[in-house]
Amino acid sequence: MSQESAAKQNPAVDEIYHPSPDIVAQANVPDPERLREEAARDIQAYWAKRAEELEWYAPWEKVLDDSNKPFYQWFTGGKTNIVLNALDRHVRTWRRNKLALIWESEKGDLRTLSYHALNREVCKFANVLKSMGVVKGDRVTIYMPRIPETVIAMLATAKIGAIHSVVYGGFSVEALHGRIEDSESKVIITADGGNMNGKKVELKKIVDEALQRSGAPEHVVVVRHLGLDVMMEQGRDYWYHELMSLPLTRNPMRCETEVMDAEDPLFILYTSGTTGKPKAILHTHGGYSVGVHATLKDVFDLKEEDRWWCTADPGWITGHSYIVYAPLLAGATSFMYEGAPTYPYPDRWWSMIEKYGITIFYSTPTAIRGLMRFGTSWPNRHDLSSLRLLGSVGEPINPEAWRWFHKNIGKEKCPIMDTWWQTETGAFMIAPMPAMPLKPGSGTKPLPGITAEVVNEEGKPVKDGDEGFLVLKNPWPAMMRTIFKDPDRYVQTYWSKFKDFYFVGDSARRDKDGYFWIIGRVDDVIKVSGYRLGTAELESAFITHHAVAEAAVIGLPHEVKGVAIHAYLILKAGHEPGEELAEDIRKHIAHEMGPIAKPEKIEFVKTLPKTRSGKIMRRVLKARAQGMSEGDISTLEE
Ligand code: WT7
Repeated sequence: MSQESAAKQNPAVDEIYHPSPDIVAQANVPDPERLREEAARDIQAYWAKRAEELEWYAPWEKVLDDSNKPFYQWFTGGKTNIVLNALDRHVRTWRRNKLALIWESEKGDLRTLSYHALNREVCKFANVLKSMGVVKGDRVTIYMPRIPETVIAMLATAKIGAIHSVVYGGFSVEALHGRIEDSESKVIITADGGNMNGKKVELKKIVDEALQRSGAPEHVVVVRHLGLDVMMEQGRDYWYHELMSLPLTRNPMRCETEVMDAEDPLFILYTSGTTGKPKAILHTHGGYSVGVHATLKDVFDLKEEDRWWCTADPGWITGHSYIVYAPLLAGATSFMYEGAPTYPYPDRWWSMIEKYGITIFYSTPTAIRGLMRFGTSWPNRHDLSSLRLLGSVGEPINPEAWRWFHKNIGKEKCPIMDTWWQTETGAFMIAPMPAMPLKPGSGTKPLPGITAEVVNEEGKPVKDGDEGFLVLKNPWPAMMRTIFKDPDRYVQTYWSKFKDFYFVGDSARRDKDGYFWIIGRVDDVIKVSGYRLGTAELESAFITHHAVAEAAVIGLPHEVKGVAIHAYLILKAGHEPGEELAEDIRKHIAHEMGPIAKPEKIEFVKTLPKTRSGKIMRRVLKARAQGMSEGDISTLEE
């Protein structure tokens, strides 16, 4: 059964897993309800207290400035830089000798970086960026495989006050082109290529093709990772290793961290929305630092001796917040793996948990469902006893996958932290803490300082157990500040449907115990394997194929991916439907958008259901495909 319908028909509302006494005894937050109550009494005082866990160059004057709603500002007047807390303060202590990063390539190469070493590489690369003329506020696009240089590039950019825009390495030409162009990046950082599932992904080639379509950046820095033969344009393209090995007189190992206002931008990250081109979600140094730091400590109970593994990619918000920033802010040891979970065998992940003694493992429902299919013999070959906590993110986890994960990976002793949040929220919003009772498929309750509600069309709370729109009632420090270059769209998308509430875009229900159950998206966002794609961006990619006149794309339930893409295409005159053409279109989409955007099914049609104003009614396509009633189609005109 699909997770969507599973959540609808069978929420495991009465299936409760209580934490063991030792989990409660060692938890960073032993009494979650008390902390929630304390925060609710004075939300600003609560966040101020959490902000004091970090270092500041200068203290804030105001915790929250809400004088210009919904453009909330946090810790105004405060001076900081996320790198001050992620690196600078650690290298002053014994942690300089602690591992910040353990990395394994898909082929099995190992690299480790202590806090000292990571800081040195970041300083050197920050100086490289400066020498290329990058200054505070400039944008830098990072398009990389999952390698340590991705982390170095992000931190170096932040250190000098520039704004990074990481584009997921699984995206392709057109998706990359649009993001480079919109961000007006001065520099692009990429690699010759990356390993993925035994194949070489030629990233530099994709960059070259994207740049033929864009107003070009001034420079491209290329990390040599695979040793591929790549085109290097004189005066534009530079090898990372050559820049990094310049004499110290030209590229010193020290670099001052730029003092930033709490509200200065740290990064933009493109994500898909309901309409039009992807939007660049903007996050800032101060509030974001406070939010990701507090949530990782509370939810994953992070301890000095932990080895943390988040299986996401730095190209998505999960990677930004919980591979790169939060673990470093906490001074933790983070493990990162380059490749595919099933390469060369379906026990690759389990073998690395054993090999590196991972204690906390944070992954996705899609991955769990995918690995489940190979059976328990693969995890059973490995000693997974180092694990003490598990996590899930990106889409609702169906109870069946939850139980499998709990039993076969966590050996019934590791609580699963199902964290609900978004690119826009920056940090976990609805999530358990280890000392809480769990229900498979529920993210439990809003974290301390967060207030959520399920409401109807009028913005009124619905009865417990009823489905409605999920909203957030109060601002929070790690919230997005705006859409880069498009503040109107920020207001329109998130703060217009309900006055004073943040509109999430998910439907949900709350049960009698106050636990939240996410049902799915209510807009035209499709979550394929937990990856967020927009129908609008997909449809415009389809019509760049020479044979396609019109396209409509919907998401339908899928056993492993959660949701899969189905495309309905009208062909231009002179083109005949057929499997060969469908395959060619699939290839085209993979080339333009990336493999994750490949449709599960293509159907050639003569007409598409539309409203009188010409808007495609995806709801109707969805209902038809699932053999359901088409609901109110009075505005329909084919
Ligand atoms: C959307 C945000 C932020 C993490 C990566 C995704 C869905 C996310 C859960 C969860 C049910 C979830 C929602 C949300 N989602 N986590 N634990 N349970 N649904 O970030 O790409 O911005 O997508 O992912 O639909 O709105 P994103």
